[in-house]
This record gives sequence, structure tokens and C-alpha cells, in this order.
Amino acid sequence: MTPSTTLPGGTATLGDLTVSRVGYGAMQLAGPGVMGPPADPESAVAVLREAVALGITHIDTSEAYGPRTTNQVVREALHPYPDELVVATKVGADRDAAGGWPPARRPEDLRRQVHENLRSLGVEHLDLVNMRMGDATGQKEGSIAEAYGVLVDLQREGLVRHLGVSNVTAEQVAEARAIAPVVCVQNMYNLAVRHDDALVDQLAADGIAYVPFFPLGGFSPLQSAALGAVAARHDATPMSVALAWLLQRSPNILLIPGTSKVAHLRENVAGAGLALSADDLAELDTIGGA
Ligand SMILES: NC(=O)c1ccc[n+]([C@@H]2O[C@H](COP(=O)([O-])OP(=O)(O)OC[C@H]3O[C@@H](n4cnc5c(N)ncnc54)[C@H](OP(=O)(O)O)[C@@H]3O)[C@@H](O)[C@H]2O)c1
Repeated sequence: MTPSTTLPGGTATLGDLTVSRVGYGAMQLAGPGVMGPPADPESAVAVLREAVALGITHIDTSEAYGPRTTNQVVREALHPYPDELVVATKVGADRDAAGGWPPARRPEDLRRQVHENLRSLGVEHLDLVNMRMGDATGQKEGSIAEAYGVLVDLQREGLVRHLGVSNVTAEQVAEARAIAPVVCVQNMYNLAVRHDDALVDQLAADGIAYVPFFPLGGFSPLQSAALGAVAARHDATPMSVALAWLLQRSPNILLIPGTSKVAHLRENVAGAGLALSADDLAELDTIGGA
């Protein structure tokens, strides 16, 4: 299969890897509360296969989703993986019996998590691993050096190809970059959550990808009068506008919207191509107070 150039936004780079700017986030494939297997396993497999059929070459996952079950579905649906497909994963948290996400960042935790991802995805090396910091409530100050250093060791051992960071402050990004190359930053960012505006621009200038999680608002889908008004003008859905806005916001932004439904996946891929005018962008800027 040749990489698609017809998807909205074209392609971008993650280190020396080229991916479609429209990707797919697999977290929604786990059961309720991101625990357990998919509610509809056949549909979960179908979503992943449709993503690849549409030309998506960037899928975001984690051993922590399920835990394990999302990686297993990714493997069932797509292994052996197409050469051009980049499967990104993340380490730094475990799951507890109540569905919590306790941080797990001791060197032995990170090594275990990388090996768990290798096993469940069925690969000998991982394309991209994000070092996830903070906790389920958000970013936290503190050094990333020890944790990132463990991933750098695993990269030198050949188990990981590229490294990124997630749920991080600008200071943690800078600290990681001083240790070893960071190919992407995966933080919460969308039309309504704009804390990372300056970071997005700085990373764009430095050729580093920015991969917003919760691009559609996550567990609480984006809703606002301005978003609704712009969507109505284009006869489009608010989701389409939210994704198109991200693609137009900066060329280093890669999308990983999540969905458990093939129909939503198709809608999101098509909708991301919506062309927003300067007036639209100004109105949308009022949502996040930019
Ligand atoms: N690094 C981190 O800490 C971190 C944290 C969270 C997430 N992530 C990654 O980021 C990815 C994206 O985040 P997310 O999936 O949580 O949130 P999201 O992409 O902002 O939103 C997903 C939600 O939107 C709904 N949705 C999607 N398309 C829709 C459409 N066309 N119409 C109506 N509803 C639609 C989905 O429901 P349906 O299933 O019904 O479509 C789902 O409830 C995740 O999949 C995961 O890979 C990373």
C-alpha cells in the first residue's frame, strides 16, 4: 500500500517517519472507562481496518487502554502491520482495579511497560513511545530526566525507534530535548483548551510534531455557541470544524481523534478537510480566549 496523499492535511514527519496528518486514537476501543475489552469487538476491528483503508498511517494506542485489550485489538486487526503504518504507544501509568491511572515511572516500571507493549502489539521494536508524565488530573511540575533517560536506554537497545513526551509542561519538553531528540509532544489541546499555544508555535519552528489528545473534547465533547454557528454556516458537524481548526492551526499538528464507530471515523476524516475562513477562525478563537 502506498501512503495516502489524499487525506486532509497531507503528511507530516515524526522524526524520520512520514505519517498522514489525520491519524486515529485507539483509546475509545476499550470498554467503558477505558477498562476491559471493546463492547463490540467486531466493530473495533472494523474501525482499525477502515482507518488503514482510508490511508491513515498513524495510530495511537497504549498498553494501559483496557489494560492490554486495545493493543490486542490493534494486533488482531492489523498485524502484520503495513510498512508505512506508525503505531505510537505510551508508558508512565498503570491501571488499578477501580479504573484509575496510577503513575508508574520507576525504571523497572518503564522497562516492563515497553516489554508489555512489544508483546501485546507483536513487534520486535516500537515505532514511537511517548513518556507520559503528570497524572490523570493533568500536568505536574517535576523532572522528566530519569524517566526519559530510561526510554533513551531502551532506544539504544533497539527496542524503541522514536521518543516523544506526553502530558508535559514546556519545561519538561525542554529538559527531555536536552537529553535526546523528542519527535512529538502529546498534550491536551483543542479549540477550548489553548494553554499550549506558545508551545505549539515553538515546536513548529523547531520541526517537532504536536499531537493533541482530546481533540474533540475527549469524554466531554466540545460544545459552544461559536462552534455551532461556524458549523451551521458550513453545513458541517462541530466535530468537523474542531478537527479542521486543528489542521489549520499549525502544520506540525497531527490529529488522533478517537471513535469506536466506522461512521464517525469516516465523518471525521472527511470533515477535517473543511476549509475555514479568516472570519471562522476569528470566531473560533473566542472559544479558547486566544
Ligand atoms: N497521552 C495522553 O495522556 C492521552 C490521554 C487521552 C487520550 N489520548 C489519546 O488521544 C486520542 C484521542 O482522545 P479521545 O479519543 O479520548 O478523545 P476525542 O478524540 O477528543 O473524542 C472522542 C469522543 O468523541 C466521540 N466522537 C468521535 N467522532 C465523533 C463524531 N463524528 N460524532 C460524534 N461523536 C464523535 C467519540 O465517541 P464515539 O466512539 O461514539 O464516536 C468519543 O466519545 C485517544 O484515542 C488516545 O489515543 C492520550
